[in-house]
Amino acid sequence: MKIAVLPGDGIGTEIVAEAVKVLKALGLGLEMEHAPVGGAAYEASGHPLPDATLRLAREADAVLFGAVGDWKYDTLERALRPEQAILGLRKHLGLFANFRPAICYEQLVGASSLKPELIAGLDILIIRELTGDIYFGQPRGRRVATDGHFPGAEEAFDTMRYSRPEIERIAHVAFQAARKRNKKVTSVDKANVLETFQLWKDVVTEVARDYPDVTLEHMYVDNAAMQLVKAPKKFDVIVTGNMFGDILSDEASMLTGSIGMLPSASLNAKNQGLYEPSHGSAPDIAGQGIANPLATILSAAMMLRFSLNQPEAADRIEAAVKAVLAQGLRTPDIWSEGTTKVGTVQMGDAVLKALG
Ligand code: IPM
Ligand code: MG
Repeated sequence: MKIAVLPGDGIGTEIVAEAVKVLKALGLGLEMEHAPVGGAAYEASGHPLPDATLRLAREADAVLFGAVGDWKYDTLERALRPEQAILGLRKHLGLFANFRPAICYEQLVGASSLKPELIAGLDILIIRELTGDIYFGQPRGRRVATDGHFPGAEEAFDTMRYSRPEIERIAHVAFQAARKRNKKVTSVDKANVLETFQLWKDVVTEVARDYPDVTLEHMYVDNAAMQLVKAPKKFDVIVTGNMFGDILSDEASMLTGSIGMLPSASLNAKNQGLYEPSHGSAPDIAGQGIANPLATILSAAMMLRFSLNQPEAADRIEAAVKAVLAQGLRTPDIWSEGTTKVGTVQMGDAVLKALG
């Protein structure tokens, strides 16, 4: 089993190092090969997703990804920005199904900005389509500018599009996931305004006929954004397009108190996957040793479960994370009065120890 390890920028290197440490301790004989990505790769070789990195990712069974991006690259032309690395990996590997769970850990109920009773026991799964929509619309790449700006441009646009097969396959993923959970799918669209999302709604409704045991509801995206803070526990599986999924998954993650706790998986049709924390590169705290490594460690657990067929090892990691939280250990993002503040490495060490 070969894992491509792509730490990236900012806190990416710090948190990925902790996840690698935990993976090694499992004694599964995993082969792990590192490669640069994002701003780090741009600095080293002039491109955020060098050919060698893409090749490694393609031939690996799974990719463990940190984070990319830094404000200092904001003026680069779009094709060279760090974000293009993750978008390129998604496109080239065909990673169309993005799983973003939002789980509220019992010990962290107080870290949420919502009332405890609204989020205690929260366990929702956002399934975001990841290789279509306005992110990969037609005009993409047609506009050329050397300095990242379009002097004199009076207009700009990005096309939103989905095809029937793209919607069908993500809908199947959502219904199958719901079958293993509470058997409810909320499909989020904007069919009242956009043709793209009328097609989305129609196709999801058709696919639902194959899953009579799963309840399907449709919700407009603006209402979904509201319901997420009003009554988040009413959701089970949310399935939506790339753009709405980007926005709603950030919102959902914060319900749980800290985005530093949430893993994610992006899978293709062969179950090859890219695993990354839901948060970004956090350049403001990079290098300080205070970033929360738990989202990345939990992403490694998802990797073991989804791509490497090692469910027991995944269970061991998840139990260890719960154990360190029960011990009262907290990185600053989840710290509260009465708990023990620890840094990135200490948190990784504690998980290692709790693996048993
Ligand atoms: C995410 C991020 C990315 C996205 C960026 C970094 C391109 O926000 O994974 O949610 O918009 O998809
Ligand atoms: Mg995002």
